[in-house]
Amino acid sequence: MGRIAQETINRVLDEVDILEVISQYVDLKKRGKNYFGLSPFRSETKPSFSVAADKNMWYDFGSGQGGNAIQFLIEHERIGFAEAVRLLAKKYGIEIIEIGDKEQDNLYDQLYEIHELACIYFENNVKSAKASNGKQYLKERQFSDATIKQYRLGISLDSWDSLFKEVKGKFDEDILKKSGLFSESKKGLVDRFRNRLMFPFFNLSGKIIGFSGRTLSPDDDVKYLNSPETFLFQKSKIFYGAYQTLPNIRKQNFAILVEGQTDYLRLVENGFSNAIATSGTAFSTKHAAVLKKHTNRAILAYDSDDAGVNAAIRASYALLQQGIETRVLFFGNDYDPDDFFQKEKNSKKEFKQLIKTSLHPIAFIVKQKEILKQSATQRSLFVDECLGEIKMVSDSIIRDDLIRKLSNEISIPETEILNRFKSIKTKIYRPVDVEKSKIQETHYTSLSDKAQLELIKLGLHYPTFVKEIAIELFSNALLQNVMKTLIKNIDKNYTISQLLETTGSTPEERNLIASFAIHSPEKGVRIRF
Ligand code: UTP
Ligand code: MN
Repeated sequence: MGRIAQETINRVLDEVDILEVISQYVDLKKRGKNYFGLSPFRSETKPSFSVAADKNMWYDFGSGQGGNAIQFLIEHERIGFAEAVRLLAKKYGIEIIEIGDKEQDNLYDQLYEIHELACIYFENNVKSAKASNGKQYLKERQFSDATIKQYRLGISLDSWDSLFKEVKGKFDEDILKKSGLFSESKKGLVDRFRNRLMFPFFNLSGKIIGFSGRTLSPDDDVKYLNSPETFLFQKSKIFYGAYQTLPNIRKQNFAILVEGQTDYLRLVENGFSNAIATSGTAFSTKHAAVLKKHTNRAILAYDSDDAGVNAAIRASYALLQQGIETRVLFFGNDYDPDDFFQKEKNSKKEFKQLIKTSLHPIAFIVKQKEILKQSATQRSLFVDECLGEIKMVSDSIIRDDLIRKLSNEISIPETEILNRFKSIKTKIYRPVDVEKSKIQETHYTSLSDKAQLELIKLGLHYPTFVKEIAIELFSNALLQNVMKTLIKNIDKNYTISQLLETTGSTPEERNLIASFAIHSPEKGVRIRF
């Protein structure tokens, strides 16, 4: 696959109906000329996300981010530019014209290709006589054929070079190294995954980007081995099973979070199709931010051992801090979800009951850590620790609710908790990607900056006016760049949404242009320098 031609991008942006695209994710209501809804990127109660249907643009007033339909999909689905264009082109039946063979595109394409080949190879091993222990293991774990097929489970053989032989000669050594599928040894590259049940990870368009392999040997110290961090595989953001279940999570506005692949597959097999798994890496703030784009409700169904309880506590803080309403489910018996469904008789019904009776994170911690039985000093430490986490919750309604909950659970008057809360310093500020551009407007406080902003607004809405503008008047570097883009493209008849895809538009420039697409210039504006 090559690079998508600019003409295809322009065509997509011409034909796409942004209202139709965004309405799939956001409930939009018309107000004046534009449409408004609750931001799909943040939790909010008053709609501040807007769409200018006539300009095919969106703008989020809360975060200061905006753009055209392509950027919406990039932000919302967490996919790359080319993927977003391809998705839209497919939806609107637009033929994609590709050009060039840029090195970067080539790298990604080859990495996707080698993962696909590896996946097919592992899948074929499930049928092959060479992998008898793997087949036996699959049987013991009782994965259905449908699961094996849909999730493309496979087997890596007990051999140093079986995958290597498959792909050798088809790719440059550089690609083999960058794929993370091989390790370097004295003898050269060897298979990273050997004698393992293979679980592929899919990106949101269904392409394979990495693997997790569960050992088939009881003597292996490493139970699960994952792909290393690669261009395609970024552990802090990746969920196992996202491709298959995120659509259901969106539909139900509710996710069931589990620790690993087998737990996930067991839930899905039992009809809980809104499961999702982190798989090995701790649940990170980035995971929470990704999830927040799809839902604002989650239940943690982690292992019922000490490690699982601690992981659930950390994850629930990360979720709450992103504004996700969180509950924690506890199986007991040291079960994980897989054990629970395999061992309990009425598991489906019982699981639904466990969901109903799952606890608010604060109640869960107080119960699991037996806070009420502890000494006053320890309880005091607990309150400080808890408040330190609550301090990082940006949504004030959720914050107040947590303080109330804490006060109730440990029977300390709310006023006392509040006093303590005020004196607690924010531990660390963990900014979230989507808020990066919040500072936006505050940059432009001087009169001169404001005047430059107005000129750009005018230029966007009345292109002929651009010709009259002297670029030397622009002292603000960012604004000057935006103006240059406008001037450079004056004769091309670009719409605002197409203008964003011309060369040289940085995210800051894009957000700025998007904000102006929503605001029309004020009538009677007078510019004086
Ligand atoms: P568990 O140890 O609870 O494994 O780790 P499990 O899911 O119950 O696996 P089975 O049932 O024994 O096969 C939970 C998750 O943590 C990751 C895996 O994703 C696993 O599913 N993990 C675990 C690793 O990445 N590496 C390990 O060595 C162990
Ligand atoms: Mn298990």
